Amino acid sequence: MSTFRELDPFTMLSPVPAVMVSCCDTAELAKPNIITIAWVGTVNSDPPMVSISVQKRRYSYDMIVNSGEFVVNLVGAKQCMAMDYCGVKSGRDCDKWADCHLTPVPAKGMARTPAIAECPGYLACKVRHTIELGSHVMFIGEAVGCGVQETLFDEDGSMHLERAELVTKAHGVYQKATDVLGFFGYSVARPDVLKRRMATYKRKK
Ligand SMILES: Cc1cc2nc3c(=O)[nH]c(=O)nc-3n(C[C@H](O)[C@H](O)[C@H](O)COP(=O)(O)O)c2cc1C
Repeated sequence: MSTFRELDPFTMLSPVPAVMVSCCDTAELAKPNIITIAWVGTVNSDPPMVSISVQKRRYSYDMIVNSGEFVVNLVGAKQCMAMDYCGVKSGRDCDKWADCHLTPVPAKGMARTPAIAECPGYLACKVRHTIELGSHVMFIGEAVGCGVQETLFDEDGSMHLERAELVTKAHGVYQKATDVLGFFGYSVARPDVLKRRMATYKRKK
């Protein structure tokens, strides 16, 4: 006997990352903009590719079409308010960089589009495919550059993105992903490996 309540299908997948995507038009004096995107996902491993789905009416839309590039900036708990602001205000009416005290810095492989210096990490993407889906247009970008904050690495070179308190969106609310429950393959890891690896996730954030 099923205990599910039947609903009309909707965008239920949850939680999803909420990211700040930076973009810039091609004109000489064009100013970069930031748009918050939750319809974002990894869609290929080699080469690394991500998709973002953007409505045509967004100010950022033409910038991405014209430049053929965008930067996906990961959002940590400290940037959560800025992420929300960049998702409710349009760059047509304000300078989101100034309003949110965010700093544009060069992103590897991008002609003009900057990364956001305050974010835990970024993926700089060149648009490889554009797909009209209905309400949104999906841009599939190949990551040609990537940056992660130095503070998220241990002395042995291991990267700890889980310390960035990355923000997710679960329908109307934002949450931070902090508690580590396991790691890739932990269900079959040797007990000594399990103990050693899990200890590294308990260190200070
Ligand atoms: C959490 C959150 C997620 C959002 N996700 C998307 C998205 O995936 N695609 C989209 O087109 N708009 C999305 N939006 C709306 C845009 O970010 C919003 O319309 C923004 O003001 C557009 O900025 P712009 O006009 O400067 O481009 C989202 C907004 C929020 C707050």
